[in-house]
Amino acid sequence: MSHTATAIDTRRTDGASDGGRRLHALLVEFETPSAIKEAARRIRDAGFVRWDTHTPFPVHGIDEQMGIQRTKLPLLVFACGAVGCLTGLVLQWWTNASNVDLPAALNFIRGYPFQVSGKPFWSLPANIPVIFELTVLFSAFGAVFGMLVLNDLPKHYNPLFRSQRFRRVTDDRFFLCVETADPSYDPQHTPALLRSLGGTAVEEVYDEPTPPAPTRIVNRVLVVLLCLALIPPAIIAKARVSRSDSPRIHLIQDMDNQEKFKTQRAYPLFADQRVMRLPVAGAVARGELGDDAHFERGIVGNGYAEQFPAHRPEVRLTAEFLQRGHDKYGVYCAPCHGFDGSGQGRINQRAIELEEPAWVAAAALTDAERRSRPVGHLFNTITNGIRTMGPYGDRISPEDRWAIVAYVRALQRAHYPRAGDLAAVENIGPRERDGGE
Ligand code: HEC
Repeated sequence: MSHTATAIDTRRTDGASDGGRRLHALLVEFETPSAIKEAARRIRDAGFVRWDTHTPFPVHGIDEQMGIQRTKLPLLVFACGAVGCLTGLVLQWWTNASNVDLPAALNFIRGYPFQVSGKPFWSLPANIPVIFELTVLFSAFGAVFGMLVLNDLPKHYNPLFRSQRFRRVTDDRFFLCVETADPSYDPQHTPALLRSLGGTAVEEVYDEPTPPAPTRIVNRVLVVLLCLALIPPAIIAKARVSRSDSPRIHLIQDMDNQEKFKTQRAYPLFADQRVMRLPVAGAVARGELGDDAHFERGIVGNGYAEQFPAHRPEVRLTAEFLQRGHDKYGVYCAPCHGFDGSGQGRINQRAIELEEPAWVAAAALTDAERRSRPVGHLFNTITNGIRTMGPYGDRISPEDRWAIVAYVRALQRAHYPRAGDLAAVENIGPRERDGGE
C-alpha cells in the first residue's frame, strides 16, 4: 500500500525548545530507492551538510547523489603504517643499539646494547621482521579505529531511535534526515522544501535535554573499566621501584617445578632404592670411558703431555686431520682468536671498538709463551678453559680437540717457520688457497 499525501506533524518546527525538548531533525520517509535518490540529490544541491539517508539495504549510487567525498581512510591507514614502521625502527635501535642515558626517573626505558658474537648492534636486515609487523599492526589499528572515528562510532544513542516511524528503516522504508544544527537549516523554508520532496511523511524528531539512562550507564561502566585497566600498570610501576624478599610470582608453571627423582635420591620402586640404575650384569662399556688420561685430558703422569704423540689410532697427523682442526678452529676459536691466531678476532675487534671496560683480549696463540706450551696444555685450555676463557670440552669431542691443537701448532709453525719449511712448501708447488684468512 502506498501513501500519496505528505503528512506533517503539526508540532512546532521552529527549532526552539519545547518543554526541555529540542528539535533535533526533520525526517522524511520514502517508499522506493529511486525516490530517496532523487530527494538526496535535491538536498545536496540545496547545500545542506548535516544530513543523512537511512535505508534497509545499500542503495547503489546514493553516495554520488549525496555528494559524499571519497573516504580519507586510506591516507589515515598510510600515516598509521608509516608511524608503525618508524616505531619498529626506533624501538629496535633504542633497545639494541643505544646506551643513551635518560633522566633517572625514566631509567626503566633505557636501551640495553647486548653483545652477541661480535655482531653489530644495529643491522637493518635483522630488524625488518619487527618493523614489518609493527607497520601491519599500526595500519590495522588505523583502519579499524579510523573507520570508527570517521563514522562517529560507537554511538549508543541517536534521537532518531525515538521515532516510531523510523523503525521501519530496517524493513521497507527509506529515510532522509536533515538536522536542525545544519547551517543551511531554516525554520520556515526547510520544512517546506522537505515536504516538496515527494516523501510519504515528514516528521519532527525531538531530543531529550539529557541523554536516556542507558547512555549514562554505559558511560559509567566505561569509567569503571578504565579505572580497572589502570591497576596492572600501577602494580608494575610499583614493582619496578620496590624490592621484595619473597620469590617472584610464578604464574605459568610449564614444567619448571615437577615431581622427579634426582640421581642421588632414594626411589621406593626399586628394591635397592637407587634412582640411578646399574648396568645390566655382564654389560661391556664402549668408548668415552674417561680411562685414557692422555687422550681425553692431555695428561701424562703428573703434567701435561709434552709432545704431540701419534700414539693412538684416533690421533694421526694426516692432511684430513689438520683440515678438520682448521674447520673446528674456524667455528670455535676464530671469533675470538682470529683466523690467523693473532687474537684479533671479530669479537675482540668489536670489544675494542666499543671500549668495553672489562674486556680481556683473547691471547695471541702464536706468541713465544703460547708456542712454548706443551700440546697437552693447549688441549686442556680447550677442554677446561683458562682464566677468563670459558671451557669448550662439552661441545668439542676429544678427537676434534686434538685436531684443533694440531692446527694451532701448524698456525704457530706458519708464523715461525723453521729452516727447511719453506723448501718443503716450494717442493709442493703452488696450492689452492683455502677459505681461511
Ligand atoms: C669467547 C672468546 C674465546 C674463544 C671462543 C676462545 N678463546 Fe681462547 N682465550 C680467550 C681469552 C679471553 C683468553 C685469554 C684469557 C686470559 O688471559 O684471561 C684466551 C686464551 C687462550 C689461550 C692461551 C692460554 C695460555 O696458555 O695462556 C689459548 C691456547 C687459547 N685461548 C686457545 C683457544 C682455542 C684453541 C679456542 C677454540 C677452541 C679458543 N681459545 C676459543 C678467549 C677465547
